[in-house]
Amino acid sequence: MTESSSDNLSNLLHETRTFPPSGEFAAQANVTEADFAQAEQDRLGFWDTQARRLKWRTPWTETLEWAPPFAKWFVGGTLNVAENCLDRHVEAGLGDRVAINWVGEPEDDTRTITYAQLLDEVKRAANALTSLGVQAGDRVAIYLPMLPETVVAMLACARLGAAHSVIFGGFSAQAIHDRVTDADARVVITSDGGYRRGAPSGLKVNVDEAIAKGGTAIEHVVVVKRTNQDVEWDDTRDVWWHDIVGGASNEHQAQAFDAEQPLYILYTSGTTGKPKGILHTSGGYLTQVSYTHWAAFDLKAETDVYWCAADVGWVTGHSYIVYGPLSNASTIVMYEGTPDTPHRGRWWEIVQEYGVTILYAAPTAIRTFMKWGEDIPNGYDLSSLRVLGSVGEPINPEAWIWYRRVIGADRTPVVDTWWQTETGAIMISPMPGVAAAKPGSALRTIPGISAEVVDNDGTPVGNGEGGLLVLTEPWPAMLRGIWGDPDRYQETYWSRFQEQGYYFAGDGAKKDEDGDLWLLGRVDDVMNISGHRISTTEVESALVSHPLVAEAAVVGASDPTTGQGIVAFVILRGENVEGADTVAALRNHVAKEIGPIAKPRQIMIVQELPKTRSGKIMRRLLRDVAENREMGDVTTLTDDSVMNLIAAKMPTAASED
Ligand code: PRX
Repeated sequence: MTESSSDNLSNLLHETRTFPPSGEFAAQANVTEADFAQAEQDRLGFWDTQARRLKWRTPWTETLEWAPPFAKWFVGGTLNVAENCLDRHVEAGLGDRVAINWVGEPEDDTRTITYAQLLDEVKRAANALTSLGVQAGDRVAIYLPMLPETVVAMLACARLGAAHSVIFGGFSAQAIHDRVTDADARVVITSDGGYRRGAPSGLKVNVDEAIAKGGTAIEHVVVVKRTNQDVEWDDTRDVWWHDIVGGASNEHQAQAFDAEQPLYILYTSGTTGKPKGILHTSGGYLTQVSYTHWAAFDLKAETDVYWCAADVGWVTGHSYIVYGPLSNASTIVMYEGTPDTPHRGRWWEIVQEYGVTILYAAPTAIRTFMKWGEDIPNGYDLSSLRVLGSVGEPINPEAWIWYRRVIGADRTPVVDTWWQTETGAIMISPMPGVAAAKPGSALRTIPGISAEVVDNDGTPVGNGEGGLLVLTEPWPAMLRGIWGDPDRYQETYWSRFQEQGYYFAGDGAKKDEDGDLWLLGRVDDVMNISGHRISTTEVESALVSHPLVAEAAVVGASDPTTGQGIVAFVILRGENVEGADTVAALRNHVAKEIGPIAKPRQIMIVQELPKTRSGKIMRRLLRDVAENREMGDVTTLTDDSVMNLIAAKMPTAASED
């Protein structure tokens, strides 16, 4: 366990408040205690029942085929994911229900899209992609801001049985290049640009740069017009979305695909410099996202207005903006911009205006709102809210309490949902109508899921003890592998507790005296910055690719708002003079190599890095240094001051070897 997670642990030991749902809420809740008992008795039977939420073209013959660590769920079943999210709702008479309330960043730039309209657009887009040669089994890259077209593009791929690979709009040309080459995508869907804090920024320009690097298989670039900014144009390759989709037929018959047809690849950081392409398939994934969206948020699709404030470029956006909510025929809000544009009350203005009933957000956002002060949300009518969710990183009790009190009027349940890109869907979360929630605890596994906290040998720890979180049984939305790298899949997740057959999540956790779970953050070299996973090695590789840098070590230091902040210790080559310019150049270099989210908060230029006798960098020491010093945004320290601090701590650290 890392230093910061044991600090978290001791803080959490003092948290004893509980918040049961009101009698009124419990009485109308979708999930009851009985569901847990039923799932416990017959886990596969439980998931069998949940899979019947979906429309299957061919029924499955076997619920689970498990050849560890490779799973197939709903074997022999066929379905079409897009049909499940659209056609069947329209057929059921829900065509006029609003699917997406889209809110652009510029004020008064909104769109309201019904299920019938969304289906129409997806059919056109599917025909357009077919005309570009996209077929079932292909990969399509999507590099777009938070637009309705992003959802349309994803569903059009799903409709065709082509896997999408959504690349977060904040990633750089290099990151796009790495992802489209790894996935061997032939088509990229992007936009001219997007709005960020009031200013248009370019997106196509990054795709152009990625393709110019060479080595990709990209044949077509489809471009959504969003900002109207000037773009370079290559007639042989580029085509406007409004031409090709606008001009396509809205007749399209969805074909049925195997339950294990790849649905998407989503890249996430691991402990090496190379991101992992996490593969998700269709039937099991859709079953679990659909069930969990209904269960964890107590969804009432006819009346709820549901807003997940994540970006669609991350797994939360895939599962809880697109596939979960739309498979449940719910009405969503989708917001393009940042919470402070054009003012710091923007989110609350949206909640008020659309009557949002369920809000799903990251602790980082909540802590930012806390910092801005409760007067801002207090200025809006938030009384429509009835369930609040949190995801992406540990939520500290203070933020949890603030969220419930200020945003939820001390009335709404708060569900702290633990899951990962790899798990595809929520795994550990209070059920809002059942649980007496504890601020900062994700409580227990949802029905049909089993987890354990174990010591290094894989032995379950007792109540009141901490250890490593493992998942002990396969689950429907589990990743089916790492794209193109079955060995890495086995090694990363299944080798640590091979004997027991446990999935190793990479997170520390604690069981409290009641056996409830408290998630404590990563135990590997993966950082969590504002709920985004970035590996220390990835940032180190970006730094050493700069000609000035000889060596670099990166740590995630705890940060009151973003959870962790990136701090880099850098040794320069030869006689290079350190200084603010060098630091600025290096920060920009990382932003260029990976994306602005990976820009180090601080860079310290040092002469040496503390290493063990075997040459391993002692990150714990560096983290101590990074966390204990008061520093500005960007600081260069001379070697002495850093090394003195490090030296002072040397005796205790020697045992790390
Ligand atoms: O460390 C855990 C943390 O986020 C990691 C997964 O990151 P990612 O794949 O990007 O998915 C984020 C959205 C699901 C986990 O290994 N994490 C996620 N949710 C929580 C959490 N840590 C504590 N509490 C949570 N609720």
